[in-house]
Amino acid sequence: MFKSANCLSNYIKKVHPIARQSIRLISSEDVIQRELKYGAHNYDPVPVALCRGKGVYVWDMEGKRYFDFLSGYSATNQGHCHPRLIAAMMDQLNVLYHTSRAFHTDILGQFAEKLCKLLKYDKMLPMNSGNEAGEVACKLARKWGYDIKGIPKNEAVVLFANGNYWGRSLAAISTSDDEDSYEGYGPFMPGFKSIPYDDVNALEEALKNPNVCAFMVEPIQGEAGVIVPQKGYLKKVRELCTKYNVLWISDEVQAGLGRTGKMLCVHHDDVRPDMVVLGKALSGGLYPVSAVLADDPIMLVMTPGSHGSTFGGNPLGCRVAITALDVLIEENLPENALKMGELMRSRLQALPKRIVKEVRGKGLFNAIEINTDVISAWDVCLALKKSGVLTKMTHNKNLRLSPALVIDADQVNEAMDLMEITIKAL
Ligand SMILES: Cc1ncc(COP(=O)(O)O)c(C=O)c1O
Repeated sequence: MFKSANCLSNYIKKVHPIARQSIRLISSEDVIQRELKYGAHNYDPVPVALCRGKGVYVWDMEGKRYFDFLSGYSATNQGHCHPRLIAAMMDQLNVLYHTSRAFHTDILGQFAEKLCKLLKYDKMLPMNSGNEAGEVACKLARKWGYDIKGIPKNEAVVLFANGNYWGRSLAAISTSDDEDSYEGYGPFMPGFKSIPYDDVNALEEALKNPNVCAFMVEPIQGEAGVIVPQKGYLKKVRELCTKYNVLWISDEVQAGLGRTGKMLCVHHDDVRPDMVVLGKALSGGLYPVSAVLADDPIMLVMTPGSHGSTFGGNPLGCRVAITALDVLIEENLPENALKMGELMRSRLQALPKRIVKEVRGKGLFNAIEINTDVISAWDVCLALKKSGVLTKMTHNKNLRLSPALVIDADQVNEAMDLMEITIKAL
């Protein structure tokens, strides 16, 4: 009936879109080789080729099911292929998907109002990636520094913490201490300075420079290996930034939106940053949407023409983001993350210390540190993949464990059983 694989593939695409998901036309190995041949080598993926996802699970080309414990680097907090997100996107596709910010649309204000009321800020500025939103926060801080704080022209300094990660643009790598990300890409952006993370004395010393306009910091450092600061650190950051008239920017691109068990990670400490940077789960991983939140005295330093993006704030992204927030709220996902995180860490703590040196995390933002004297983290990652649990290394020794926030207790226990059996056998 079908003269070639191509004909079969076209038929399946047209007639059986669901069946297509489960019919293997090419192997995982073929998928990997094609990607390596035609795609740039700026990533080093785990050797698995995925073609389907649902909730906390993903499937490879051969139909093998895995627990997705990376969740698209915390973008798919709402779980894969969430029906409400898909329905919202499909609906908006038939209405209006892109206009640019040259015109008003009926939906941008709806999204802005929802996000501002939820997180209690006057205004938000929409972008696409987390990196771009971080860049906006730095620009706002510099302009605020000149217009309001009175820093001399071109002398503003933004402070960062060692171990930070906010993307790989030239600005972001200019603040990085990870050689892999910056080596060979200089010259770097001036006016950025890094200090040790979780060190209030170093912060106070740096804040004494009157040209400092902001301190941008992750409330839990994700890429650094899920580094949770000491209790009281964020409260002290708030106090010191207020004392020295410096803006505190909380980069919640990865830690925010329910991941740690609260809508924002800073809510655990009951503190309010001057700016919040969001991305990833703001659209449930469906579509890139990011945002910066701030009050009027900061946000209104930016005037027309000084920042923009063709796609930022487009109707499709706004609709998806509104629904992504609705899902987080109505399905009580932060609360679930808090409970499931406790269960997960109690199981992780019981893993053999010979291999798992440390367990860190809050809510469902967790990592284990591997004793690399015994085995490499990469080998543990591959063994877990074989057992059906997908994760990825950071800094050659940490494995992040951050499933979708929809995970239930049975699923946590099943995944932890798999991890226990696998790691005990190493
Ligand atoms: C804390 C933090 N900020 C910013 C970013 C950059 O986000 P994006 O990759 O969407 O540009 C990331 C990405 O991992 C992140 O973890």
